[in-house]
Amino acid sequence: MQKADNSPAVMPRHVAFIMDGNGRWAKKRGMPREYGHRFGVKAFRAVLDHCGSLGIEAVTFYAFSTENWKRPRREVDAILGLMDNYLAECEKKIDEYAFRLVFLGDKSAFDDKRRARMEALERNTAHHKRILNIALNYGGRDEIVNACNRLIAMGKEHVTAQDLTQALYTADSPELDLIVRTGGDLRISNFLLWQAAYAELYFTDVLWPDFGPAEVNAALAEFSTRKRRFGGV
Ligand code: FPP
Repeated sequence: MQKADNSPAVMPRHVAFIMDGNGRWAKKRGMPREYGHRFGVKAFRAVLDHCGSLGIEAVTFYAFSTENWKRPRREVDAILGLMDNYLAECEKKIDEYAFRLVFLGDKSAFDDKRRARMEALERNTAHHKRILNIALNYGGRDEIVNACNRLIAMGKEHVTAQDLTQALYTADSPELDLIVRTGGDLRISNFLLWQAAYAELYFTDVLWPDFGPAEVNAALAEFSTRKRRFGGV
């Protein structure tokens, strides 16, 4: 069932994207993988804008995992370079930037300059209601281990699920409703492991650079047909 404005009947509050398929998209065009990532950023922008215009409260993108360091140096540099360009642009437009930027992941792997820049962007956008989480040097297992260590450092001897939720990188985000993975693989690849407990999963063969507002709408339409029981009947 669709509302008059064509937005789905049930909107998720928090959607996360596994942006897969950039390399294959480039290969199909006889181009290096970095070329696919460049177009991947274009898709990221279009999807983020679209989610923003639909009023989704929190949007999360898996940009670089703790395992992605194993890729060739040239590709790692290309992805981080694209990220640096995007961050520089956000800084320039900070007054009109509509999202609270939150970086999910272990920032200690980055040099002082990049880390300071990420932290400044988090501070300077903290007043916005809508959240953009960018997972960078992120791993779901790492996040849970890090959260446990934080709780131990706080002196906790008994931990509740709520304590753990609050110690994760996503502490300020609403509950995760939907994970969308492009590129045809049917797995979640160490992404938002704790948060995915009751999230709906949506997989599509579309390669990430070809993913855009129409594909987001298809995922949301499918989401609005899902019967979410959260373990109940
Ligand atoms: C997965 O596709 C994609 C990545 C590991 C990188 C995604 C990064 C970006 C789109 C750029 C991030 C920058 C911003 C500003 C968000 P793949 O390379 O594994 O594709 P394949 O499965 O076809 O090889």
